[in-house]
Amino acid sequence: MAIIKKFYITKFKEERPKIELKNISLSFNKRQILDNISFTIREGEICGLLGPNGVGKSTIFNLIVGLLKPDYGEILIDKKKVTGLPIYHRATNFKVSIVPQYGGLFLDLTCYQNLMAIADLVIKMKSERIFKIEKMISKFELDTVKNIKAKHLSGGQKKRVNLAMALLSDPKIVLMDEPFAGLDLMAIRNLQETIVNLQTEDNSRCCIISDHAAKDLLSISDRGIILANQKVIAHETPKDLINNEEAKRLYFGDSFKIN
Ligand SMILES: Nc1ncnc2c1ncn2[C@@H]1O[C@H](COP(=O)(O)OP(=O)(O)OP(=O)(O)O)[C@@H](O)[C@H]1O
Ligand SMILES: [Mg+2]
Repeated sequence: MAIIKKFYITKFKEERPKIELKNISLSFNKRQILDNISFTIREGEICGLLGPNGVGKSTIFNLIVGLLKPDYGEILIDKKKVTGLPIYHRATNFKVSIVPQYGGLFLDLTCYQNLMAIADLVIKMKSERIFKIEKMISKFELDTVKNIKAKHLSGGQKKRVNLAMALLSDPKIVLMDEPFAGLDLMAIRNLQETIVNLQTEDNSRCCIISDHAAKDLLSISDRGIILANQKVIAHETPKDLINNEEAKRLYFGDSFKIN
């Protein structure tokens, strides 16, 4: 199996912030989910977002894409406030793209038709659409199922279609909510490679990825964030993160290792 060439960005040439969450708080039905959360993701960074079930990782993605509005705080992209901007504005002007944890597919359309539905929206040149769809079909090994309706695809195949749809637009910000879930071992490896290539191809693109496969995720992340008890409890390089006593106590446990 090929070794993924990940060059860790230990020192970013320009510490330009891409996404900033400033003092974000959010409650659902008076139950506080996020309490005064602040963090910055830099241009070109791959960030792993980790934390126990129900801690608010998907909620953070929904806040960044514009599906939710915080009760308090601001979200900035490229130093501009986007907190009040609608989803389509963030998708088109800031090129934000998401692989959702669940759903995201038109179940009665084929895999190819799902890709075309998104390509119609995000790729202006008609001639380019087919080319890019074919590229994604090949990248995510969807050739044998491209004419099958999404409702008949396996869990891992659905996830691959989601990934292909999210990357069709050459996004500048890629949010992936549990992208490794349901993928077989080779597909995880391929996806890790794809994510690292996304960074290499465009060094201003940033990716935030949430997954419970912490080892697979941290091995390709420049930095990681651990959420626990409504707060960010750690935000540092994978090496520092796994040695962080609070992160060990609240998330990793004692025996967790990356290699
Ligand atoms: N629309 C909603 N209404 C009420 N509660 C919600 C809503 N959306 C999310 N929640 C609650 O907010 C909390 C955070 O949910 P979220 O989906 O962000 O967790 P998560 O960290 O992504 O968990 P997982 O690892 O299981 O995917 C959960 O307790 C969930 O029940
Ligand atoms: Mg989630």
